[in-house]
Amino acid sequence: MFCGILCCLVFGGLLSASAAQSCPETPSVKNSMSVTEEVEGQVLGTYFCIKGYHLQGKKSFVCNASEEWVASATQCRLGHCPDPVLENGEFNSSGPVNVSDIITFKCNDHYILKGSTWSQCLEDHSWAPPFPACKSRDCGPPEKPAHGYFEGAKFTSGSTITFHCEKRYRLVGTPEQQCVDGEWSSALPACELIPEASTPVPPMGFERAFLAFRETEEMCSAMEDFMKRVKGNGLTMEELKYSLEIKKAELMAKMLV
Ligand SMILES: *[C@@H]1O[C@H](CO)[C@@H](O)[C@H](O)[C@H]1NC(C)=O
Ligand SMILES: *[C@@H]1O[C@H](CO)[C@@H](O)[C@H](O)[C@H]1NC(C)=O
Ligand SMILES: *[C@@H]1O[C@H](CO)[C@@H](O)[C@H](O)[C@H]1NC(C)=O
Repeated sequence: MFCGILCCLVFGGLLSASAAQSCPETPSVKNSMSVTEEVEGQVLGTYFCIKGYHLQGKKSFVCNASEEWVASATQCRLGHCPDPVLENGEFNSSGPVNVSDIITFKCNDHYILKGSTWSQCLEDHSWAPPFPACKSRDCGPPEKPAHGYFEGAKFTSGSTITFHCEKRYRLVGTPEQQCVDGEWSSALPACELIPEASTPVPPMGFERAFLAFRETEEMCSAMEDFMKRVKGNGLTMEELKYSLEIKKAELMAKMLV
């Protein structure tokens, strides 16, 4: 019962004397004890923090071939778990944290909490669930879409902006967006090139077939000739219908002039 720290120190000291004669003493770390042992031909120094402290950094070190400890910053810190942190927020703990302590988090005004509102210090010195983050409720200016722009100069929570596209581009997505707790209400829209309207040119075959009407005054034989040429040119009924519509429009336009 009285053993505790003292035994460990003695035990550690004995081990370092026998197993690692050639290695210097492990670098001292405040509020800890160290044990030196040989593991698979390597001399290993391991730190243990005293009660009420938790280890931060590497637990074990190797004494390498040049008989030096490959150092790295190890500390024993007060409290069973690392001190909680929350930027732009606060929690109900000030002093050292004990195992199984529960802390609750709150964000400052204008910030919204993302994650768990509480966390508990576990036996293994870690916190669970992980700490949350406090995110600004404001959005900040969004990225301008390629070939587009937005109207609106306020990006704070509740503000609305509207996206537009340049000439010859059309908007894909939701043009109006509202900033809701740091995020725009939906995925930002994009501008897409409008495909060139195809110019209404009747197929060549049709033009040739249509000459039938110029070559003869007699309607019936002209029609017969026309249909023959249509078939000969391999025009489909769809193409024929389309071409006739165009022709009709052309004739109407001529009559109106
Ligand atoms: C041993 O570790 C020390 C300290 O990190 C370093 O300076 C030295 O080069 C190392 N020697 C070998 C053989 O790795
Ligand atoms: C941790 O435990 C110690 C001793 O029981 C106590 O004095 C201290 O207030 C506790 N710390 C917290 C954060 O509750
Ligand atoms: C923080 O507040 C919660 C809820 O009120 C409570 O359960 C917890 O014990 C408090 N933690 C500390 C370290 O005071």
